[in-house]
Amino acid sequence: MTREVPVAATVAELRAFVRTRRALGERIGLVPTMGALHVGHLSLIEAARQRADRVVATIFVNPTQFGANEDFSRYPRTFDADRAQLAQVEADLVFAPAVTEMYPAGFVTTVSLAGPASAELEDRFRPTHFAGVATVVAKLLNQAQADVAVFGEKDYQQLLVIRQMARDLDIPTEIYGAPTLREADGLALSSRNVYLSESERARAPSLHQALDAASRAIARGASIDETMTQARSAVTAAGFEIDYIEARDTQTLAPVTDGAVGALRILAAARLGATRLIDNVAVAAT
Ligand code: PAF
Repeated sequence: MTREVPVAATVAELRAFVRTRRALGERIGLVPTMGALHVGHLSLIEAARQRADRVVATIFVNPTQFGANEDFSRYPRTFDADRAQLAQVEADLVFAPAVTEMYPAGFVTTVSLAGPASAELEDRFRPTHFAGVATVVAKLLNQAQADVAVFGEKDYQQLLVIRQMARDLDIPTEIYGAPTLREADGLALSSRNVYLSESERARAPSLHQALDAASRAIARGASIDETMTQARSAVTAAGFEIDYIEARDTQTLAPVTDGAVGALRILAAARLGATRLIDNVAVAAT
């Protein structure tokens, strides 16, 4: 029988765990999540496990990163199933604070961002999102004092925002970006995939297929502008409403156009019915 994963509900309990393990000379890995865990998250735990002796997963549906019209109240909350999955991959602790533990009465501070957070991608459609993410992640990193924290490349702009925030605020935790896990048909694993109806699920892989085709075309030397136009047409034809599909500099997220030098990333967000999917792919260096 797998062992139950202990739960810490307070920062004091989390810090006591970390202090004890550190005193034994162990490295601590942190995997922040909002729960509704799937195998993509479990791969983040495995990535942390390879870089640390003890792995702490956090489960906190962070209200401050949801906009007024977003899915905070209907976001899937599956704590018991999450904890069972964390036991399977032998996480050492779950930190699951209440909203009042993270944001006690009188809380007023927010991290203010620029750079990758104002690249006009997610931030254009979710203007308050990254301030909420960066603030909660700064808190989690300070609370846990981990050696390494793992985030998925699926939320690529988020990963760059967190890297920049940790660097700018001198947070010593190493930020590691783990590759996106996909279904066999290419759909990126996401907690929001449960919202898709059967027919939407059947069409959903078209997003990744279009990004993948665009990535290969640009790597072969095709025009970036024309390739992105074709990718947008393919995604629209599959029934999506596109928020953005863009080729960007992989480090800065600055727009790129034909003749661009350096590594590129293609990033997308598009809505299939009521569900908003995001994805991104690297463009292989030529
Ligand atoms: O990627 C997520 O699940 C969330 O944005 C994070 C990093 C856990 C912060 O709430």
